[in-house]
Amino acid sequence: MLLERVGVEQPHERGRVDELVRPLELGGETLAAVVGQGHLPDGRCAVLIEPPRVEHVPGQLGMLVGDRPRVLDLFCGGGGCSAGYARAGFDPHGVDRFPMPAYPFWSIEQADWRAVLADRAFVRSFDLVHASPVCKGYTPLRALSSAVHPLEIPEVRDELERTGLPYVIENVVGARRDMRDPVLLCGSMFGLGLEGAVLRRHRLFESNVPLSAPGPCSCGDGRPVVGVYGTGGGWTRTAPGGGGTKVSGPAAAAAMGVDWTVDQDVLSQMVPPAYAEHVGRQVLEALGHSSAPPVSCEAGGAA
Ligand SMILES: C[S@@+](CC[C@H](N)C(=O)[O-])C[C@H]1O[C@@H](n2cnc3c(N)ncnc32)[C@H](O)[C@@H]1O
Repeated sequence: MLLERVGVEQPHERGRVDELVRPLELGGETLAAVVGQGHLPDGRCAVLIEPPRVEHVPGQLGMLVGDRPRVLDLFCGGGGCSAGYARAGFDPHGVDRFPMPAYPFWSIEQADWRAVLADRAFVRSFDLVHASPVCKGYTPLRALSSAVHPLEIPEVRDELERTGLPYVIENVVGARRDMRDPVLLCGSMFGLGLEGAVLRRHRLFESNVPLSAPGPCSCGDGRPVVGVYGTGGGWTRTAPGGGGTKVSGPAAAAAMGVDWTVDQDVLSQMVPPAYAEHVGRQVLEALGHSSAPPVSCEAGGAA
């Protein structure tokens, strides 16, 4: 059997983790402890291993296939970018200053992005660093309150460049003036949307690796547009450049191609996974890695 170590949900209510704490041995030596195994919502099987980096371990679980490149996902939120990078072939590690129970992978820490980047040895264990700095200061929302929101992109870029690693910075279109040659991605480029309506959700991606869009943006071709904002609801913004009819909860998740949460607070901040998957595949190609092979999971040896 082949069992690929994929991002694994934590053993809480979403999971169906059915076995806890089991040594993984090779030649009499304990290499790792399998502390959980089960199935992801999409049916893929997964194992949760401590320590997390185990390479090519033939054992009673079969073969853990490959050692995937790692992405450090700063400002990870509910994991839209992490999920996309995982689809492309990365192992994501999320960092958020707040608890993120919706984050769909086991590897996440609650921390400030600066503190994590300051740990140089830790950062060097990654192949790519992604950052989605807080966007409130770059959106029209900044005019709606007297609160001062940070414009952190230049500082984030400085720190990312100091790592010497490939990096990606993602943000809203209002941040263009602070971004270097960003590529614009739109839901229309990935067939995202709902019931004939297209998801606009324009986002900019900057990188020190060449990036391109998968094709032209076609969200202005007359089709209805849906958007995922704030608390959701039926409010419509149809002016040019507007976000369209707001959808929330399960409809928002479906429009964004998200299958692990319907939490509107989380979704309204999320980047559709397809965007980061597209970016991640380009980074992998630039780094000389192949993109993710299809995951193979057969019942039998894992139980
Ligand atoms: C726009 S959301 C990111 C969405 C995420 N990229 C996705 O695809 O789902 C920004 C996130 O940054 C987090 N954040 C804000 N300040 C932070 C800080 N100083 N360090 C780490 N995370 C922070 C917020 O809690 C929020 O979850």
